[in-house]
Amino acid sequence: MYFDTHTHLDDERFDDDRDTVVQKMRDARVSLAVNIGSDMKTSRKSIEIAKAYDGIYAAVGVHPHAAEEMTDEDITALAQMAKGPKVVAIGEIGLDYYYDNSPRELQKKWFQRQIELAKELDLPYVVHDRDAHADCMEIIKKSGYFRGVMHCYSGSCEMARELLELGFYISFAGPVTFKNGRKAKEAAIYVPMERLLIETDSPYLTPEPYRGQRNDSSHVQYVAKEIAALKGLTIEETARITRENGKCFFGID
Ligand code: NI
Repeated sequence: MYFDTHTHLDDERFDDDRDTVVQKMRDARVSLAVNIGSDMKTSRKSIEIAKAYDGIYAAVGVHPHAAEEMTDEDITALAQMAKGPKVVAIGEIGLDYYYDNSPRELQKKWFQRQIELAKELDLPYVVHDRDAHADCMEIIKKSGYFRGVMHCYSGSCEMARELLELGFYISFAGPVTFKNGRKAKEAAIYVPMERLLIETDSPYLTPEPYRGQRNDSSHVQYVAKEIAALKGLTIEETARITRENGKCFFGID
């Protein structure tokens, strides 16, 4: 039984066949998933999806792409939303200097503020970091609150070591299965099994052998398969351990 710790089932690419995708996911023995919000609208949708489907939980938060439009009222609204029964984390939040869709100063401001929010609410948080490693680490360290996961990990083993020392979990997605995913593979070998999570980030980042097609949670098995091969474990063991880690991190019984 697998746990896909990061999916965007709210994405409009699933609007026509969401029920079918959830059935496909269950058929592939993926019994738990966290649907991740990326702005106010998708955070609300995330909660609706969690209400609609057993085993699917919600995270609410504003992605750095949408930082420019974020307001103090949004923080109040997120705090309210996070009190819902199946809301298990704040996310995804962070910095994205690859696309730079929002000014960096605003990305940093709202990343920091949302970590504080997670702390105030006693919830874990889900971090998106693209080409912003140094600033990301600085903000995390300054926050003093380390119940986080670095999602779709693409950094170095050195940065992984720092994150692990703080108490972070590290999550791997489709890129770890790519032939040119050397860095992710090295990091996956490095991260101890008890701090490792798996995810799809669907509909993005489709793993091999389905690269190029729309991704969905049923494909988390290919991430597990790659981690198992890198760690010298069976797929069953990998599925079981990452599922337990996910339940522990998100506080799901
Ligand atoms: Ni994501």
